[in-house]
Amino acid sequence: MNLKNDRSGYECWLRYSYIDDDISRDAYLKRCSRIALIGESALIESARAELKLALTSMLGAKPLEIGISEDGPAIVAGTFDSLQGLGLGSFVEAADIAELGNEGYIVLASEDGRVYLLAETDKGVLYAVFHLIRMMQTGEDIETASVREFPRNSLRMINHWDNMDGSIERGYAGRSIFYRDSRFIEDLSRVRDYARLLASGGINAVSINNVNVHVQESKLITEEFLPDVAKVADIFRGYGIRLYLSVNFASPIEIGGLETADPLVPEVRRWWSGAAKEIYRHIPDFGGFVVKADSEFRPGPFTYGRNHADGANMLAEALEPYGGEVIWRCFVYNCLQDWRDRSTDRARAAYDHFMPLDGTFRDNVLLQIKNGPMDFQVREPVSPLLGGLTRTNQLLELQITQEYTGQQRHLCYLVPQWKEILEFDTYAQGEHSTVSEVASGRLFGRKRGGLAAVGNIGDDMNWTGHILAQANWYGYARLTWNPCLSSEQISREWIRMTFGQDMGTEGIILKMLSDSHRIYEAYTAPLGVGWMVNPGHHYGPNVDGYEYSKWGTYHYADRYGIGVDRTVRSGTGYAGQYHSPQSDLYESPERCPDELLLFFHHVSYTHVLKSGKTVIQHIYDSHFNGADQAVDLVAQWDSIKEKIDEGIYLQVRERLLHQAEHAGEWRDIVNTYFYRKSGIADDYDRLIY
Ligand code: GCU
Repeated sequence: MNLKNDRSGYECWLRYSYIDDDISRDAYLKRCSRIALIGESALIESARAELKLALTSMLGAKPLEIGISEDGPAIVAGTFDSLQGLGLGSFVEAADIAELGNEGYIVLASEDGRVYLLAETDKGVLYAVFHLIRMMQTGEDIETASVREFPRNSLRMINHWDNMDGSIERGYAGRSIFYRDSRFIEDLSRVRDYARLLASGGINAVSINNVNVHVQESKLITEEFLPDVAKVADIFRGYGIRLYLSVNFASPIEIGGLETADPLVPEVRRWWSGAAKEIYRHIPDFGGFVVKADSEFRPGPFTYGRNHADGANMLAEALEPYGGEVIWRCFVYNCLQDWRDRSTDRARAAYDHFMPLDGTFRDNVLLQIKNGPMDFQVREPVSPLLGGLTRTNQLLELQITQEYTGQQRHLCYLVPQWKEILEFDTYAQGEHSTVSEVASGRLFGRKRGGLAAVGNIGDDMNWTGHILAQANWYGYARLTWNPCLSSEQISREWIRMTFGQDMGTEGIILKMLSDSHRIYEAYTAPLGVGWMVNPGHHYGPNVDGYEYSKWGTYHYADRYGIGVDRTVRSGTGYAGQYHSPQSDLYESPERCPDELLLFFHHVSYTHVLKSGKTVIQHIYDSHFNGADQAVDLVAQWDSIKEKIDEGIYLQVRERLLHQAEHAGEWRDIVNTYFYRKSGIADDYDRLIY
């Protein structure tokens, strides 16, 4: 295995290690030593460059470029149109092609020793190239390749929370790759590598600035910065990725000199139309705006007594002539709550705000909905707005950056959590109305939909701080393309592409990844209640950190019990926002899944869970076990030391050691807190302080 030349982790899963198994390499060489790519677009150029890089590096020989008319074994790539005349009709059915759409592709081996990479568009060809490369990286046979792929989601997006001063909100891997000192970074080579990594997983949209749009970033849509934005857009375009910007709803005032940003005032509408015209002059395929409005002190239509549809539709109207769209976030709640007030429930907020507006948004508006009703906790239920709205385009919002899940210092592989979310049955149209079907738009026959997620990268040499956190980034991309892929399949792909094909290594890393979310959950906030973190930066245990604050995130622990009563019968009524039977399940303390019990119910410490344990014993057991398992992760990693490049081994080890220690801190603080509150001893008499 040739793992000795990338000590940093910079190449991520595109490291293209030399295939040193002679039999496999020879088999690939037979078909891949000559290539013919038809077309001259930037996309085809990207495809050509990637294919050459990958083949040269994996096979140890530069492929020869040949003309399309030359016979013999080769990789032949191009659109159906460009390859007309090759007689492909015999093995490519017209029906197959129709379904592929403008991003799908075919990878097909023919008897004459060729591998065809075919698509309707150049973008599809690029995706086909990445697919073929992945097959080789993961050791698949290409001689019998017969692949037909198309994405299940039309929008597959990453949101950056980067600020122009170079900082990243909730960033745990260094500074921005886009900005420094309030300007764009001139050398965009890192952005190009980023685009390659995104395209390899099928991401087709990025927004490049924080949803909290401050003074400098408000100017991104002006002449001062549009030429720079356009340069970044050019790079992304070459990889099939459309660029979006987060905008400040009060821009007409802050950069336009108007006195109001009221969405119904004609002058304001004209201002936004003018802004859109300028943007499209620089970036003809600009994707549109991402908007956080009336949320956590951001301005919005509420200031003017207007609703969110008024606000979103105004922006949508301005972008509509150019094919742009508005991505309007539903993370809207009262962040100045009084902890004494038990009737206001933050969990209800998104549904309460947006359900009454269902059906009133323009076609080029998508509502971006966080996966849970609170805020990216290690465990919370799925937002009932997903499956609630039926006449509005929707986008599921996930968080790749590990704000509440260990900040990329703890290992927490999120694909299993995302799979649970995507597979959650909303029952919006009876059984099998999964979140995945809702988000894609298919369930309600909508053309637009998909996934967006807050990115986890920065300018750290290895992009993500924790090298194993690259798996979250890769996994997210793969799930946007095909939410049906299993967590295991995604992990195995990523491990092979990143660490090579050693079964032992693969087994260990697979186990570490697969267990990590449950482990993290075990030693942090119990049974779905959430938070218990230090305020502000959200790292490390602090059980009452948010208990008496204004943010609406409480656990209500007292000497008798803990949890939030969100039932219809006696609580905030949140459980009633779901369709039956989910609403019935959550309403009942007996039937509610253990892992969400404290999200929905306030129960005594001696309440017996379905697991047969009392709540208090569960807290003790899970914290002792979780912390032990965190220690064991180090041993697992050490067991493959010889198989991993030393630089990478050491980087990961340093994080795992920190996690092991910090998990102990979580265990002791949480256990001690509940022991002191409840006065109930641990059944096993372990050390609690
Ligand atoms: C969380 C996060 C904020 C972020 C917000 C959002 O609350 O802590 O930093 O701005 O989510 O999604 O808008």
